[in-house]
Amino acid sequence: MHNDLKEVLFTEKQIADRVSEIAEKVTSTYQGKPLTIICLSNGAIVFAADLIRRIPIPLQLDTISVSSYRGTESTGEIKMNKGLKLSVKDRHVVIVDDILDTGLTLSKVSEEVLKSEPLSVQTCVLLNKPARRKLAIEADFSGFEIEDLFVVGYGLDYDEHYRNLPCIGVLKETIYSS
Ligand code: IMP
Ligand code: MG
Repeated sequence: MHNDLKEVLFTEKQIADRVSEIAEKVTSTYQGKPLTIICLSNGAIVFAADLIRRIPIPLQLDTISVSSYRGTESTGEIKMNKGLKLSVKDRHVVIVDDILDTGLTLSKVSEEVLKSEPLSVQTCVLLNKPARRKLAIEADFSGFEIEDLFVVGYGLDYDEHYRNLPCIGVLKETIYSS
């Protein structure tokens, strides 16, 4: 799997250090408040799993499943596959995603979550790719800013592969054409 990468952008250690920093910020923001973390699966599963274990305050965890991407290009359409199981009414929500790209996913999901009348909604992403933004949305908590590159690993996939890579990197061009 590692051999399919042209370049490693963030090592396992760099990611772990940054996730700890984000977790500290989330912790101090929500200390003493009813907090629900919403993980956008499947992409954010790895990030959210590491993140919540570094947040030492009471919280609830739920998942929302949406899909938009086929291959390396967004279809532009967001399909909701699974909604919330828990009630977020009177709770503060942090929506966690792997990457903020065009912004379509996070704005659609935020809109959806707001219908359940939470006290507040904030967003948290590991990666931010501002070059391709279509909507004016920024994450409240963000790990690393990257250029307009298609990346895989640490939850991020190319056609459902590479989610289990512990680092984040750029695929060799030969992978797309094969
Ligand atoms: P957005 O709706 O365009 O902001 O895209 C968000 C979703 O697109 C993420 O949750 C990812 O699943 C996917 N995505 C965007 N960029 C990449 C990438 O570079 N690699 C893998 N998936 C990506
Ligand atoms: Mg994805």
